[in-house]
Amino acid sequence: MARILVTSALPYINGIKHLGNLAGSMLPADVWSRFKRAQGHDVLYICATDEHGTPAELAAAAAGQDVRTYCDEQHEIQKRAGEAFGLSYDWFGRSSNEPNRRLTQHFANVLEANGFIEERVDRMIYSVDDARFLPDRYVEGTCPHCGHVGARGDQCDNCGRLLDPTDLIEPYSAVSGSRNLEVRDTRHLYLLQTKLEGAIRDWIGSKSGWQTLAKSIALKHLDEGLIDRGITRDLKWGVPVVGADGGPRPGMEGKVFYVWFDAPIEYVGATEEWADATCGDWKSWWRLDEGADDVRYVQFMGKDNVAFHTVSFPATILGSGEPWKTVDQLKAFNWLNWYGGKFSTSQKRGVFMDQALELLPADYWRWHLTAYGPEHSDTAFTWEQFQGAVNKDLADVLGNFVNRIVKFTEAKFDGVVPDGGEPGPVEAQLDADLRATIAEATEQFEAMEFRKAAAAVRAAWVLGNEYLQVAAPWTALKTDRDLAAVGVRTGLNLVALFARLAAPILPFSAEKIAASVGATDLSWPAADEAWLDAIPAGRSVAHQGVLFAKIEDAQVAAWAERFGGAA
Ligand code: MF3
Ligand code: ZN
Repeated sequence: MARILVTSALPYINGIKHLGNLAGSMLPADVWSRFKRAQGHDVLYICATDEHGTPAELAAAAAGQDVRTYCDEQHEIQKRAGEAFGLSYDWFGRSSNEPNRRLTQHFANVLEANGFIEERVDRMIYSVDDARFLPDRYVEGTCPHCGHVGARGDQCDNCGRLLDPTDLIEPYSAVSGSRNLEVRDTRHLYLLQTKLEGAIRDWIGSKSGWQTLAKSIALKHLDEGLIDRGITRDLKWGVPVVGADGGPRPGMEGKVFYVWFDAPIEYVGATEEWADATCGDWKSWWRLDEGADDVRYVQFMGKDNVAFHTVSFPATILGSGEPWKTVDQLKAFNWLNWYGGKFSTSQKRGVFMDQALELLPADYWRWHLTAYGPEHSDTAFTWEQFQGAVNKDLADVLGNFVNRIVKFTEAKFDGVVPDGGEPGPVEAQLDADLRATIAEATEQFEAMEFRKAAAAVRAAWVLGNEYLQVAAPWTALKTDRDLAAVGVRTGLNLVALFARLAAPILPFSAEKIAASVGATDLSWPAADEAWLDAIPAGRSVAHQGVLFAKIEDAQVAAWAERFGGAA
Protein backbone atom coordinates (compact mmCIF):
# COMPACT_ATOMS: atom_id res chain seq x y z
CA MET A 1 0.00 0.00 0.00
CA ALA A 2 1.44 3.33 -1.11
CA ARG A 3 0.76 6.82 0.20
CA ILE A 4 -0.41 9.05 -2.62
CA LEU A 5 -1.03 12.78 -2.40
CA VAL A 6 -3.29 14.16 -5.14
CA THR A 7 -4.09 17.81 -5.78
CA SER A 8 -6.15 19.47 -8.50
CA ALA A 9 -5.61 23.14 -9.43
CA LEU A 10 -7.54 25.32 -7.02
CA PRO A 11 -10.62 26.82 -8.68
CA TYR A 12 -10.97 30.60 -8.46
CA ILE A 13 -13.63 31.72 -6.04
CA ASN A 14 -15.34 34.03 -8.53
CA GLY A 15 -18.36 31.96 -9.48
CA ILE A 16 -19.27 28.35 -10.08
CA LYS A 17 -17.04 26.53 -12.56
CA HIS A 18 -17.99 25.38 -16.03
CA LEU A 19 -17.56 21.90 -17.45
CA GLY A 20 -14.17 22.84 -18.93
CA ASN A 21 -12.71 23.56 -15.50
CA LEU A 22 -14.14 20.30 -14.23
CA ALA A 23 -12.85 18.20 -17.15
CA GLY A 24 -9.31 19.61 -17.00
CA SER A 25 -8.41 19.19 -13.35
CA MET A 26 -10.94 18.23 -10.68
CA LEU A 27 -12.67 15.36 -12.47
CA PRO A 28 -9.54 13.48 -13.62
CA ALA A 29 -8.00 14.02 -10.17
CA ASP A 30 -11.10 12.47 -8.64
CA VAL A 31 -11.25 9.54 -11.09
CA TRP A 32 -7.61 8.78 -10.50
CA SER A 33 -7.93 9.09 -6.71
CA ARG A 34 -10.84 6.68 -6.80
CA PHE A 35 -8.86 4.26 -8.96
CA LYS A 36 -5.94 4.32 -6.53
CA ARG A 37 -8.17 3.97 -3.47
CA ALA A 38 -9.94 1.06 -5.18
CA GLN A 39 -6.55 -0.64 -5.46
CA GLY A 40 -6.19 -0.30 -1.71
CA HIS A 41 -3.76 2.63 -1.58
CA ASP A 42 -3.78 5.39 1.00
CA VAL A 43 -4.85 8.42 -1.05
CA LEU A 44 -5.14 11.99 0.19
CA TYR A 45 -6.97 14.16 -2.36
CA ILE A 46 -6.75 17.85 -1.55
CA CYS A 47 -8.40 20.82 -3.24
CA ALA A 48 -9.54 24.31 -2.16
CA THR A 49 -10.94 27.57 -3.44
CA ASP A 50 -8.39 30.14 -4.63
CA GLU A 51 -9.81 33.23 -2.96
CA HIS A 52 -7.42 36.15 -3.23
CA GLY A 53 -6.52 38.65 -5.91
CA THR A 54 -8.39 41.10 -8.08
CA PRO A 55 -10.87 38.55 -9.53
CA ALA A 56 -12.28 37.96 -6.04
CA GLU A 57 -12.41 41.65 -5.11
CA LEU A 58 -14.03 42.69 -8.38
CA ALA A 59 -16.57 39.84 -8.39
CA ALA A 60 -17.54 40.71 -4.82
CA ALA A 61 -17.95 44.37 -5.76
CA ALA A 62 -20.10 43.39 -8.75
CA ALA A 63 -22.26 41.27 -6.43
CA GLY A 64 -22.55 44.19 -4.00
CA GLN A 65 -20.97 42.18 -1.16
CA ASP A 66 -17.90 42.60 0.98
CA VAL A 67 -15.19 40.20 -0.11
CA ARG A 68 -15.28 38.00 2.98
CA THR A 69 -19.06 37.42 2.73
CA TYR A 70 -18.80 36.84 -0.99
CA CYS A 71 -16.04 34.25 -0.53
CA ASP A 72 -17.89 32.51 2.31
CA GLU A 73 -20.94 32.05 0.10
CA GLN A 74 -19.10 31.09 -3.06
CA HIS A 75 -16.94 28.58 -1.23
CA GLU A 76 -20.03 26.78 0.05
CA ILE A 77 -21.58 26.81 -3.42
CA GLN A 78 -18.47 25.32 -5.04
CA LYS A 79 -18.08 22.78 -2.28
CA ARG A 80 -21.67 21.58 -2.72
CA ALA A 81 -21.35 21.45 -6.51
CA GLY A 82 -18.22 19.33 -6.16
CA GLU A 83 -19.91 16.92 -3.79
CA ALA A 84 -22.91 16.63 -6.08
CA PHE A 85 -20.53 15.69 -8.89
CA GLY A 86 -19.05 12.98 -6.70
CA LEU A 87 -15.67 14.72 -6.31
CA SER A 88 -14.20 12.73 -3.45
CA TYR A 89 -11.94 15.35 -1.90
CA ASP A 90 -10.53 14.41 1.44
CA TRP A 91 -10.54 18.14 2.05
CA PHE A 92 -11.82 21.15 0.17
CA GLY A 93 -10.12 24.09 1.84
CA ARG A 94 -9.83 27.85 1.44
CA SER A 95 -6.73 29.82 0.55
CA SER A 96 -8.02 32.61 2.82
CA ASN A 97 -7.81 30.37 5.89
CA GLU A 98 -5.28 30.72 8.67
CA PRO A 99 -2.84 27.91 7.76
CA ASN A 100 -2.24 29.39 4.32
CA ARG A 101 -1.70 32.86 5.73
CA ARG A 102 0.91 31.53 8.14
CA LEU A 103 2.65 29.37 5.55
CA THR A 104 2.71 32.14 2.94
CA GLN A 105 4.30 34.56 5.38
CA HIS A 106 6.73 31.85 6.42
CA PHE A 107 7.85 31.17 2.85
CA ALA A 108 8.33 34.87 2.16
CA ASN A 109 10.43 35.24 5.27
CA VAL A 110 12.72 32.29 4.59
CA LEU A 111 13.09 33.32 0.95
CA GLU A 112 14.19 36.73 2.12
CA ALA A 113 16.56 35.29 4.70
CA ASN A 114 18.10 33.20 1.89
CA GLY A 115 18.65 36.28 -0.27
CA PHE A 116 15.95 35.58 -2.85
CA ILE A 117 13.73 38.57 -2.14
CA GLU A 118 14.42 42.20 -2.83
CA GLU A 119 12.40 45.38 -2.35
CA ARG A 120 12.02 47.43 -5.51
CA VAL A 121 10.16 50.58 -6.38
CA ASP A 122 7.58 50.21 -9.16
CA ARG A 123 5.70 52.84 -11.07
CA MET A 124 2.02 51.97 -10.80
CA ILE A 125 -1.27 53.57 -11.67
CA TYR A 126 -2.87 55.42 -8.76
CA SER A 127 -6.47 56.61 -8.76
CA VAL A 128 -6.80 59.93 -6.99
CA ASP A 129 -10.61 59.68 -6.69
CA ASP A 130 -10.53 56.09 -5.39
CA ALA A 131 -7.51 56.89 -3.20
CA ARG A 132 -5.82 53.63 -4.15
CA PHE A 133 -3.45 51.94 -6.56
CA LEU A 134 -5.06 50.07 -9.43
CA PRO A 135 -3.19 46.79 -10.01
CA ASP A 136 -3.97 44.21 -12.70
CA ARG A 137 -7.64 44.23 -13.62
CA TYR A 138 -8.48 47.30 -11.59
CA VAL A 139 -7.57 49.47 -14.51
CA GLU A 140 -9.09 49.23 -17.98
CA GLY A 141 -8.51 51.12 -21.20
CA THR A 142 -7.68 50.77 -24.87
CA CYS A 143 -5.31 47.99 -25.93
CA PRO A 144 -2.10 49.45 -27.42
CA HIS A 145 -1.78 46.45 -29.74
CA CYS A 146 -5.22 46.00 -31.27
CA GLY A 147 -7.19 49.10 -30.24
CA HIS A 148 -9.76 47.06 -28.30
CA VAL A 149 -11.70 49.32 -25.92
CA GLY A 150 -12.18 47.86 -22.43
CA ALA A 151 -8.95 45.86 -22.28
CA ARG A 152 -7.98 44.92 -18.71
CA GLY A 153 -4.74 45.98 -17.09
CA ASP A 154 -3.28 42.48 -17.08
CA GLN A 155 -4.49 41.16 -20.43
CA CYS A 156 -6.43 42.14 -23.54
CA ASP A 157 -9.42 39.87 -24.04
CA ASN A 158 -9.51 40.67 -27.72
CA CYS A 159 -5.96 39.95 -28.88
CA GLY A 160 -4.90 37.90 -25.83
CA ARG A 161 -1.68 39.88 -25.25
CA LEU A 162 -0.42 40.18 -21.68
CA LEU A 163 -0.35 43.83 -20.63
CA ASP A 164 1.05 46.00 -17.92
CA PRO A 165 -1.52 48.50 -16.59
CA THR A 166 0.72 51.39 -17.66
CA ASP A 167 0.53 50.17 -21.30
CA LEU A 168 -3.18 51.00 -21.63
CA ILE A 169 -4.24 54.01 -23.70
CA GLU A 170 -6.86 56.27 -22.05
CA PRO A 171 -6.95 54.23 -18.87
CA TYR A 172 -9.78 54.48 -16.36
CA SER A 173 -10.53 52.93 -12.98
CA ALA A 174 -12.56 49.69 -13.07
CA VAL A 175 -13.81 50.60 -9.60
CA SER A 176 -15.27 54.05 -10.25
CA GLY A 177 -14.68 54.77 -13.93
CA SER A 178 -12.57 57.76 -12.93
CA ARG A 179 -9.94 58.95 -15.38
CA ASN A 180 -8.22 61.02 -12.74
CA LEU A 181 -5.21 58.71 -12.65
CA GLU A 182 -1.53 59.24 -11.97
CA VAL A 183 1.56 57.08 -12.13
CA ARG A 184 3.09 56.92 -8.67
CA ASP A 185 5.98 55.10 -7.08
CA THR A 186 5.13 52.13 -4.89
CA ARG A 187 7.38 49.66 -3.11
CA HIS A 188 7.06 45.90 -3.75
CA LEU A 189 8.77 42.64 -2.97
CA TYR A 190 10.37 40.79 -5.86
CA LEU A 191 11.19 37.10 -5.90
CA LEU A 192 14.59 36.79 -7.61
CA GLN A 193 13.77 33.91 -9.91
CA THR A 194 16.82 34.70 -12.04
CA LYS A 195 18.97 33.49 -9.15
CA LEU A 196 17.00 30.21 -8.93
CA GLU A 197 17.06 29.30 -12.61
CA GLY A 198 19.81 26.70 -12.26
CA ALA A 199 18.19 25.05 -9.28
CA ILE A 200 14.84 24.88 -11.08
CA ARG A 201 16.41 23.42 -14.20
CA ASP A 202 18.19 20.71 -12.19
CA TRP A 203 15.01 19.95 -10.30
CA ILE A 204 12.98 19.55 -13.52
CA GLY A 205 15.74 17.36 -14.90
CA SER A 206 15.41 15.08 -11.86
CA LYS A 207 11.70 14.49 -12.52
CA SER A 208 11.15 11.45 -14.69
CA GLY A 209 7.41 11.04 -14.17
CA TRP A 210 6.10 14.20 -15.81
CA GLN A 211 4.01 14.10 -18.93
CA THR A 212 5.53 15.43 -22.15
CA LEU A 213 3.13 18.37 -22.28
CA ALA A 214 4.12 19.47 -18.79
CA LYS A 215 7.83 19.08 -19.33
CA SER A 216 7.85 20.92 -22.64
CA ILE A 217 5.91 23.89 -21.21
CA ALA A 218 8.29 24.04 -18.26
CA LEU A 219 11.44 23.93 -20.38
CA LYS A 220 10.05 26.50 -22.81
CA HIS A 221 9.63 28.90 -19.90
CA LEU A 222 13.16 28.33 -18.71
CA ASP A 223 14.58 28.71 -22.21
CA GLU A 224 12.79 32.03 -22.65
CA GLY A 225 14.60 33.17 -19.51
CA LEU A 226 13.10 33.74 -16.09
CA ILE A 227 12.44 37.22 -14.81
CA ASP A 228 12.27 38.43 -11.22
CA ARG A 229 8.63 38.50 -10.23
CA GLY A 230 6.68 41.01 -8.15
CA ILE A 231 5.00 38.99 -5.43
CA THR A 232 3.09 41.75 -3.60
CA ARG A 233 0.18 44.01 -4.53
CA ASP A 234 -1.49 47.16 -3.26
CA LEU A 235 -4.74 45.47 -2.32
CA LYS A 236 -6.67 44.98 0.89
CA TRP A 237 -7.80 41.41 0.34
CA GLY A 238 -5.07 38.82 0.61
CA VAL A 239 -2.29 37.57 2.86
CA PRO A 240 -0.75 40.64 4.54
CA VAL A 241 2.95 41.28 4.07
CA VAL A 242 4.68 41.22 7.46
CA GLY A 243 8.20 41.50 8.82
CA ALA A 244 10.36 38.58 9.92
CA ASP A 245 8.94 38.82 13.44
CA GLY A 246 5.36 38.63 12.15
CA GLY A 247 4.79 42.29 13.00
CA PRO A 248 4.24 45.19 10.59
CA ARG A 249 6.89 45.68 7.94
CA PRO A 250 7.88 49.33 7.44
CA GLY A 251 7.05 50.57 3.95
CA MET A 252 4.80 47.56 3.26
CA GLU A 253 1.78 48.51 5.30
CA GLY A 254 -1.52 47.72 3.63
CA LYS A 255 0.07 45.41 1.04
CA VAL A 256 -0.70 41.78 0.41
CA PHE A 257 0.96 38.93 -1.47
CA TYR A 258 0.10 38.39 -5.12
CA VAL A 259 -2.55 35.69 -5.52
CA TRP A 260 -0.27 33.41 -7.54
CA PHE A 261 2.28 33.51 -4.72
CA ASP A 262 -0.10 32.30 -2.01
CA ALA A 263 -2.44 30.02 -4.04
CA PRO A 264 -0.15 27.01 -4.58
CA ILE A 265 1.01 27.22 -0.97
CA GLU A 266 -2.62 26.44 -0.13
CA TYR A 267 -1.99 22.86 -1.27
CA VAL A 268 0.00 22.60 1.94
CA GLY A 269 -2.36 24.91 3.84
CA ALA A 270 -5.42 22.85 2.92
CA THR A 271 -3.63 19.68 4.04
CA GLU A 272 -3.06 21.39 7.38
CA GLU A 273 -6.79 22.32 7.50
CA TRP A 274 -7.61 18.65 6.85
CA ALA A 275 -5.19 17.51 9.56
CA ASP A 276 -6.62 20.03 12.04
CA ALA A 277 -10.04 18.47 11.45
CA THR A 278 -8.86 14.84 11.50
CA CYS A 279 -5.62 13.16 12.51
CA GLY A 280 -3.47 16.21 13.20
CA ASP A 281 -0.68 14.97 10.95
CA TRP A 282 -0.06 16.97 7.77
CA LYS A 283 3.72 16.96 7.95
CA SER A 284 4.14 13.31 7.03
CA TRP A 285 2.55 14.26 3.67
CA TRP A 286 4.64 17.34 3.00
CA ARG A 287 7.90 17.33 4.93
CA LEU A 288 10.65 15.01 3.78
CA ASP A 289 12.14 15.17 7.26
CA GLU A 290 8.83 14.01 8.77
CA GLY A 291 8.08 10.96 6.65
CA ALA A 292 6.99 12.39 3.30
CA ASP A 293 9.86 10.76 1.42
CA ASP A 294 7.65 7.73 0.72
CA VAL A 295 4.75 9.85 -0.57
CA ARG A 296 4.01 9.95 -4.28
CA TYR A 297 2.65 13.41 -5.17
CA VAL A 298 0.51 13.87 -8.30
CA GLN A 299 -0.88 17.18 -9.58
CA PHE A 300 -3.71 17.72 -12.08
CA MET A 301 -4.27 21.01 -13.93
CA GLY A 302 -5.16 22.79 -17.16
CA LYS A 303 -2.25 23.67 -19.44
CA ASP A 304 -2.41 27.40 -18.58
CA ASN A 305 -1.41 26.47 -15.01
CA VAL A 306 1.67 24.42 -15.87
CA ALA A 307 4.23 27.24 -15.78
CA PHE A 308 3.06 28.26 -12.32
CA HIS A 309 3.44 24.70 -11.03
CA THR A 310 6.73 23.83 -12.74
CA VAL A 311 8.59 27.10 -12.38
CA SER A 312 7.00 29.72 -10.08
CA PHE A 313 5.86 27.49 -7.22
CA PRO A 314 9.08 25.44 -7.35
CA ALA A 315 11.00 28.73 -7.10
CA THR A 316 9.21 29.32 -3.79
CA ILE A 317 9.84 25.79 -2.56
CA LEU A 318 13.43 25.40 -3.72
CA GLY A 319 14.37 28.91 -2.62
CA SER A 320 13.19 28.11 0.91
CA GLY A 321 15.97 25.54 1.19
CA GLU A 322 13.61 23.48 3.35
CA PRO A 323 12.82 19.80 2.82
CA TRP A 324 9.37 20.07 1.22
CA LYS A 325 7.78 17.33 -0.85
CA THR A 326 7.54 18.34 -4.52
CA VAL A 327 5.43 17.01 -7.37
CA ASP A 328 6.39 13.60 -8.81
CA GLN A 329 3.85 13.37 -11.60
CA LEU A 330 2.08 16.21 -13.30
CA LYS A 331 -0.88 15.65 -15.57
CA ALA A 332 -1.94 18.61 -17.69
CA PHE A 333 -5.06 18.92 -19.82
CA ASN A 334 -5.90 20.96 -22.88
CA TRP A 335 -9.01 23.11 -23.31
CA LEU A 336 -12.56 21.97 -23.47
CA ASN A 337 -14.24 24.33 -25.93
CA TRP A 338 -17.90 24.96 -26.43
CA TYR A 339 -18.47 24.03 -30.07
CA GLY A 340 -15.93 26.19 -31.96
CA GLY A 341 -15.47 28.81 -29.25
CA LYS A 342 -14.85 29.36 -25.59
CA PHE A 343 -17.15 28.86 -22.67
CA SER A 344 -18.46 32.30 -21.75
CA THR A 345 -20.41 33.33 -18.69
CA SER A 346 -21.38 36.74 -20.01
CA GLN A 347 -22.56 35.44 -23.39
CA LYS A 348 -24.37 32.49 -21.81
CA ARG A 349 -22.42 29.94 -23.82
CA GLY A 350 -21.71 26.64 -22.17
CA VAL A 351 -22.89 24.73 -19.13
CA PHE A 352 -21.80 25.34 -15.56
CA MET A 353 -21.54 22.65 -12.90
CA ASP A 354 -24.79 23.47 -11.11
CA GLN A 355 -26.78 23.70 -14.34
CA ALA A 356 -25.37 20.42 -15.63
CA LEU A 357 -26.82 18.53 -12.68
CA GLU A 358 -30.24 20.09 -13.24
CA LEU A 359 -30.23 18.40 -16.64
CA LEU A 360 -28.78 14.97 -15.95
CA PRO A 361 -27.11 12.95 -13.19
CA ALA A 362 -23.40 13.43 -12.50
CA ASP A 363 -22.30 10.09 -13.97
CA TYR A 364 -23.53 11.00 -17.47
CA TRP A 365 -21.25 14.03 -17.47
CA ARG A 366 -18.40 12.22 -15.74
CA TRP A 367 -18.41 9.54 -18.42
CA HIS A 368 -18.43 11.91 -21.37
CA LEU A 369 -15.82 14.27 -19.93
CA THR A 370 -13.49 11.39 -19.05
CA ALA A 371 -13.91 9.17 -22.08
CA TYR A 372 -13.90 12.04 -24.60
CA GLY A 373 -12.19 14.80 -22.62
CA PRO A 374 -9.58 17.37 -23.74
CA GLU A 375 -6.67 15.13 -22.87
CA HIS A 376 -4.21 15.34 -25.76
CA SER A 377 -5.67 18.24 -27.73
CA ASP A 378 -8.30 20.93 -27.33
CA THR A 379 -11.68 19.26 -27.66
CA ALA A 380 -15.08 20.71 -28.45
CA PHE A 381 -18.09 19.86 -26.34
CA THR A 382 -21.15 19.37 -28.49
CA TRP A 383 -24.60 18.22 -27.41
CA GLU A 384 -24.61 15.68 -30.22
CA GLN A 385 -21.42 13.97 -29.03
CA PHE A 386 -22.59 14.04 -25.46
CA GLN A 387 -25.86 12.42 -26.54
CA GLY A 388 -23.91 9.79 -28.48
CA ALA A 389 -21.67 8.95 -25.52
CA VAL A 390 -24.58 8.58 -23.11
CA ASN A 391 -26.87 6.68 -25.45
CA LYS A 392 -24.33 4.35 -26.98
CA ASP A 393 -21.83 3.69 -24.20
CA LEU A 394 -23.94 3.99 -21.09
CA ALA A 395 -27.48 3.10 -22.17
CA ASP A 396 -26.89 0.60 -25.00
CA VAL A 397 -23.73 -1.10 -23.78
CA LEU A 398 -23.57 -0.98 -19.98
CA GLY A 399 -27.17 -0.26 -18.94
CA ASN A 400 -28.68 -2.68 -21.40
CA PHE A 401 -26.39 -5.50 -20.33
CA VAL A 402 -27.19 -5.15 -16.64
CA ASN A 403 -30.87 -4.73 -17.33
CA ARG A 404 -31.16 -7.72 -19.56
CA ILE A 405 -29.46 -10.29 -17.40
CA VAL A 406 -30.93 -9.15 -14.07
CA LYS A 407 -34.46 -8.95 -15.46
CA PHE A 408 -34.09 -12.37 -17.08
CA THR A 409 -32.99 -13.81 -13.74
CA GLU A 410 -36.02 -12.27 -12.07
CA ALA A 411 -38.37 -13.60 -14.74
CA LYS A 412 -37.00 -17.13 -15.15
CA PHE A 413 -35.00 -17.97 -12.03
CA ASP A 414 -37.10 -16.31 -9.32
CA GLY A 415 -34.49 -13.58 -8.92
CA VAL A 416 -31.92 -16.05 -7.54
CA VAL A 417 -28.47 -16.84 -8.95
CA PRO A 418 -28.98 -20.37 -10.34
CA ASP A 419 -26.75 -23.34 -9.61
CA GLY A 420 -25.98 -26.25 -11.93
CA GLY A 421 -23.81 -26.71 -14.98
CA GLU A 422 -20.09 -26.13 -15.43
CA PRO A 423 -18.37 -23.31 -17.31
CA GLY A 424 -17.11 -24.45 -20.72
CA PRO A 425 -14.91 -23.16 -23.54
CA VAL A 426 -17.09 -20.09 -24.15
CA GLU A 427 -16.57 -18.97 -20.56
CA ALA A 428 -12.85 -19.77 -20.76
CA GLN A 429 -12.54 -17.57 -23.84
CA LEU A 430 -14.50 -14.79 -22.11
CA ASP A 431 -12.20 -15.01 -19.13
CA ALA A 432 -9.10 -14.78 -21.30
CA ASP A 433 -10.48 -11.79 -23.24
CA LEU A 434 -11.46 -10.03 -20.03
CA ARG A 435 -8.02 -10.58 -18.55
CA ALA A 436 -6.40 -8.83 -21.48
CA THR A 437 -8.93 -5.98 -21.43
CA ILE A 438 -8.70 -5.40 -17.70
CA ALA A 439 -4.90 -5.49 -17.86
CA GLU A 440 -5.14 -2.78 -20.51
CA ALA A 441 -7.55 -0.68 -18.40
CA THR A 442 -5.25 -1.01 -15.39
CA GLU A 443 -2.20 -0.04 -17.40
CA GLN A 444 -3.89 3.01 -18.90
CA PHE A 445 -5.19 4.19 -15.54
CA GLU A 446 -1.71 3.75 -14.09
CA ALA A 447 -0.35 5.87 -16.92
CA MET A 448 -3.11 8.47 -16.35
CA GLU A 449 -4.32 7.97 -19.90
CA PHE A 450 -7.97 8.60 -19.17
CA ARG A 451 -9.47 8.29 -22.62
CA LYS A 452 -7.67 5.00 -23.19
CA ALA A 453 -8.60 3.71 -19.75
CA ALA A 454 -12.27 4.53 -20.37
CA ALA A 455 -12.10 2.85 -23.79
CA ALA A 456 -10.72 -0.33 -22.18
CA VAL A 457 -13.44 -0.30 -19.53
CA ARG A 458 -16.02 0.08 -22.27
CA ALA A 459 -14.39 -2.77 -24.21
CA ALA A 460 -14.95 -5.03 -21.19
CA TRP A 461 -18.66 -4.12 -21.19
CA VAL A 462 -18.79 -4.93 -24.91
CA LEU A 463 -17.28 -8.37 -24.21
CA GLY A 464 -20.16 -8.97 -21.81
CA ASN A 465 -22.74 -8.17 -24.44
CA GLU A 466 -21.00 -10.39 -26.97
CA TYR A 467 -20.89 -13.20 -24.44
CA LEU A 468 -24.63 -12.99 -23.81
CA GLN A 469 -25.26 -13.11 -27.55
CA VAL A 470 -23.30 -16.37 -27.79
CA ALA A 471 -24.37 -17.98 -24.52
CA ALA A 472 -27.99 -16.90 -25.16
CA PRO A 473 -29.43 -18.33 -21.92
CA TRP A 474 -32.95 -17.43 -23.11
CA THR A 475 -32.56 -19.92 -25.96
CA ALA A 476 -30.67 -22.51 -23.91
CA LEU A 477 -33.38 -22.52 -21.26
CA LYS A 478 -35.82 -24.16 -23.70
CA THR A 479 -33.66 -27.30 -23.97
CA ASP A 480 -30.95 -27.31 -21.29
CA ARG A 481 -31.53 -25.65 -17.91
CA ASP A 482 -27.96 -26.25 -16.70
CA LEU A 483 -26.49 -24.63 -19.78
CA ALA A 484 -28.79 -21.64 -19.27
CA ALA A 485 -27.77 -21.51 -15.59
CA VAL A 486 -24.09 -21.20 -16.52
CA GLY A 487 -24.91 -18.30 -18.85
CA VAL A 488 -26.98 -16.51 -16.23
CA ARG A 489 -24.49 -17.06 -13.42
CA THR A 490 -21.65 -15.84 -15.60
CA GLY A 491 -23.71 -12.85 -16.69
CA LEU A 492 -24.50 -11.88 -13.09
CA ASN A 493 -20.83 -12.17 -12.19
CA LEU A 494 -20.06 -9.87 -15.08
CA VAL A 495 -22.51 -7.35 -13.63
CA ALA A 496 -20.53 -7.32 -10.39
CA LEU A 497 -17.25 -7.04 -12.30
CA PHE A 498 -18.52 -4.21 -14.51
CA ALA A 499 -19.56 -2.23 -11.45
CA ARG A 500 -16.00 -2.48 -10.13
CA LEU A 501 -14.55 -1.40 -13.48
CA ALA A 502 -17.01 1.50 -13.69
CA ALA A 503 -16.55 2.74 -10.14
CA PRO A 504 -13.72 5.29 -10.62
CA ILE A 505 -15.57 7.05 -13.43
CA LEU A 506 -19.21 6.27 -12.54
CA PRO A 507 -19.28 6.11 -8.72
CA PHE A 508 -23.04 6.58 -8.30
CA SER A 509 -24.07 4.06 -10.97
CA ALA A 510 -21.45 1.55 -9.85
CA GLU A 511 -23.11 1.28 -6.45
CA LYS A 512 -26.51 0.71 -8.04
CA ILE A 513 -25.14 -1.86 -10.47
CA ALA A 514 -23.37 -3.76 -7.70
CA ALA A 515 -26.51 -3.62 -5.54
CA SER A 516 -28.54 -5.27 -8.30
CA VAL A 517 -26.53 -8.46 -7.72
CA GLY A 518 -26.28 -8.00 -3.97
CA ALA A 519 -22.63 -6.93 -4.14
CA THR A 520 -20.85 -4.09 -2.39
CA ASP A 521 -17.25 -4.74 -3.40
CA LEU A 522 -16.08 -1.91 -5.64
CA SER A 523 -12.36 -2.58 -5.35
CA TRP A 524 -10.35 -2.56 -8.56
CA PRO A 525 -10.06 -6.15 -9.92
CA ALA A 526 -6.59 -7.60 -9.38
CA ALA A 527 -4.97 -9.58 -12.18
CA ASP A 528 -5.00 -12.94 -10.37
CA GLU A 529 -8.59 -12.89 -9.17
CA ALA A 530 -11.26 -15.43 -10.16
CA TRP A 531 -13.69 -12.63 -10.85
CA LEU A 532 -16.34 -14.79 -12.55
CA ASP A 533 -16.78 -16.76 -9.33
CA ALA A 534 -17.58 -13.92 -6.97
CA ILE A 535 -21.39 -14.14 -6.94
CA PRO A 536 -22.45 -17.53 -5.55
CA ALA A 537 -25.51 -19.53 -6.53
CA GLY A 538 -28.44 -18.90 -4.23
CA ARG A 539 -27.96 -15.19 -3.85
CA SER A 540 -30.92 -12.89 -4.62
CA VAL A 541 -30.68 -10.29 -7.33
CA ALA A 542 -32.99 -7.32 -7.93
CA HIS A 543 -33.26 -4.87 -10.76
CA GLN A 544 -32.62 -1.31 -9.50
CA GLY A 545 -34.62 0.72 -12.00
CA VAL A 546 -33.40 2.45 -15.15
CA LEU A 547 -29.65 2.97 -14.93
CA PHE A 548 -29.17 5.32 -17.87
CA ALA A 549 -32.01 7.02 -19.71
CA LYS A 550 -31.34 7.84 -23.33
CA ILE A 551 -31.08 11.49 -24.32
CA GLU A 552 -33.81 12.35 -26.82
CA ASP A 553 -33.29 14.62 -29.83
CA ALA A 554 -35.91 16.98 -28.43
CA GLN A 555 -33.83 17.41 -25.26
CA VAL A 556 -30.74 18.18 -27.31
CA ALA A 557 -32.69 20.82 -29.25
CA ALA A 558 -34.04 22.42 -26.06
CA TRP A 559 -30.62 22.49 -24.37
CA ALA A 560 -28.90 23.90 -27.47
CA GLU A 561 -31.50 26.66 -27.41
CA ARG A 562 -31.00 27.37 -23.72
CA PHE A 563 -27.22 27.08 -23.42
CA GLY A 564 -26.07 27.79 -26.95
CA GLY A 565 -25.02 25.22 -29.51
CA ALA A 566 -23.85 25.24 -33.10
CA ALA A 567 -23.60 28.94 -34.05
N1 MF3 B 1 -7.12 29.52 -9.64
C1 MF3 B 1 -6.18 29.17 -10.67
C2 MF3 B 1 -6.91 28.97 -11.99
O1 MF3 B 1 -8.07 28.67 -11.97
C3 MF3 B 1 -5.42 27.93 -10.33
C4 MF3 B 1 -4.64 28.03 -9.09
S1 MF3 B 1 -3.75 26.61 -8.85
C5 MF3 B 1 -2.80 26.92 -7.52
O2 MF3 B 1 -6.28 29.11 -13.02
F1 MF3 B 1 -1.97 26.04 -7.40
F2 MF3 B 1 -2.22 28.03 -7.62
F3 MF3 B 1 -3.56 27.00 -6.49
ZN1 ZN C 1 -5.61 43.77 -27.76
